[in-house]
Amino acid sequence: MTQTPVTDSAVNPQVAAAPVAVDVPMMRLHVKILRFNPETDKKAHWVTYDMEAQPGDRMVDVLNEIKWYKETGLAFRRSCQHGICGSDAMLINGRNRLACKTLVRDVAKDGGTVTVEPIRGLKVEKDLLVDMEPFFDAYRAIMPYFIHPTPFPAKEQYQSEANAEKMAHSSNCILCACCTTSCPIFWVNGSYIGPAALVQAHRFIFDTRDEAKQQRLGVVNQNTGVWRCRTAYNCTEACPRGIPITQLIEEVKREVMFGQS
Ligand code: SF4
Ligand code: SF4
Ligand code: FES
Repeated sequence: MTQTPVTDSAVNPQVAAAPVAVDVPMMRLHVKILRFNPETDKKAHWVTYDMEAQPGDRMVDVLNEIKWYKETGLAFRRSCQHGICGSDAMLINGRNRLACKTLVRDVAKDGGTVTVEPIRGLKVEKDLLVDMEPFFDAYRAIMPYFIHPTPFPAKEQYQSEANAEKMAHSSNCILCACCTTSCPIFWVNGSYIGPAALVQAHRFIFDTRDEAKQQRLGVVNQNTGVWRCRTAYNCTEACPRGIPITQLIEEVKREVMFGQS
């Protein structure tokens, strides 16, 4: 997190020069984390860490630095660190984001404070770690896999371009839970399966190769399903993949009303 090496070849690709170190001004940063240790704490409390970071560092880099050099007990999830696995969703400055897709310069000024909290609506196990089981229970409920009782034909089953287009958004979901844990309906009633599960349901409902559309429509039509959505758009704003979630939920609602056989 100190210097960014650049090479002459970055300026002129024909020159393969030795890396040149360039000083990038560091920012001072107060990182205020809502911490909770179930073995010692009765309730969560804020702890502030004074850090330095480059403006282009990601918040996951800052959290790694805290964990590696200041507070080894800090608990948070991350894996790919490139916006693919969906494991590092957290509230940064009060908004659901992936720490690995959040640049320091976008959430703090030099000398400023950035707050980090666990996502809401799921039980906190420790610090920024939440129990994801209820989220994945909802995911499992919509049967997120192909169901095809009739034997597959010998040749490949094609999807029309128009149909693939319909599923283009929903198949981009990385199951990060940013949407479900920003939904006010989910906060007050955890039995609502939530926007992420509905996005996943959408992905299979509109896939003409799948044969369980009616079963899935039955699941989302239950009182824990799609009708709980109040079209508040929090989920769409929170999605780090830019998925138009509320629109997809509306499409699922229409399919429940008019697509049931
Ligand atoms: S649009 Fe529906 S699912 Fe999304 S946040 Fe609002 S109520 Fe929740
Ligand atoms: S729809 Fe977006 S916010 Fe919701 S789980 Fe998928 S990627 Fe995350
Ligand atoms: S660590 Fe995988 S999405 Fe951020």
